[in-house]
Amino acid sequence: MKLNLLERLMTNSGMRHLVQARIEGPRLRSMASKDRYPVCLELGAGAGRGVGIIIGLFGAEKVVATDADPAQLERAKKRLAPLLGDKKYGDKFGDKVVLKVEDALDLAGEPAGGYDAVFAFGVIHHTEDWRKALREISRVLKPGGEYFFDELLKGFLESPPIRATTAHPAGGMFTGDEFTAYLSSIGLKPVKQWRWDGVWLMGSAMKEN
Ligand SMILES: C[S@@+](CC[C@H](N)C(=O)[O-])C[C@H]1O[C@@H](n2cnc3c(N)ncnc32)[C@H](O)[C@@H]1O
Repeated sequence: MKLNLLERLMTNSGMRHLVQARIEGPRLRSMASKDRYPVCLELGAGAGRGVGIIIGLFGAEKVVATDADPAQLERAKKRLAPLLGDKKYGDKFGDKVVLKVEDALDLAGEPAGGYDAVFAFGVIHHTEDWRKALREISRVLKPGGEYFFDELLKGFLESPPIRATTAHPAGGMFTGDEFTAYLSSIGLKPVKQWRWDGVWLMGSAMKEN
């Protein structure tokens, strides 16, 4: 679901980038079971900050970074082109980074069992059907591959100030327990997690063989 104006301003702000780079990336790294994740998929890549985290902290050799909103991917292109040494804005930066408009609820364009890791920084709670998104993630992970999650929880999203200022779909709301139980039920074994009860959930889950 598209972000409203306030969400877009916050998501694409320097403050958001700082939180993602200084807190979320390192915390997810501390929950990883492997040194390197060569082939990675990022859902809801937004302004493209996650790509640097995935390459820098998780040792990715290739990142497919996707977002349902073409305007967000344009921002990612502009950010990434100079960082990746490309003079013009494109969809592909050598063999390392590919940017794609794609809905997390329909990853039909991605190979089953094709990825060592899937990342979604603050994305699944924006989808209309969080369970479907998790099933898609499970499908594209290799056995032993890991899903790194970072999501706001129902208690926070349903609080009056957040309801009044943001536009989150009902189908994207879950508690930490619901999320974790569903991961297990579809063969994504929760490995580690950090929780701010009712507010924020981060963690990793491994695709079972
Ligand atoms: C809160 S922003 C997070 C952006 C970025 N990951 C970050 O951490 O700054 C959520 C992103 O998810 C994207 N999004 C929302 N619904 C989506 C969906 N169904 N599939 C893919 N991306 C989606 C939005 O366009 C937006 O860029």
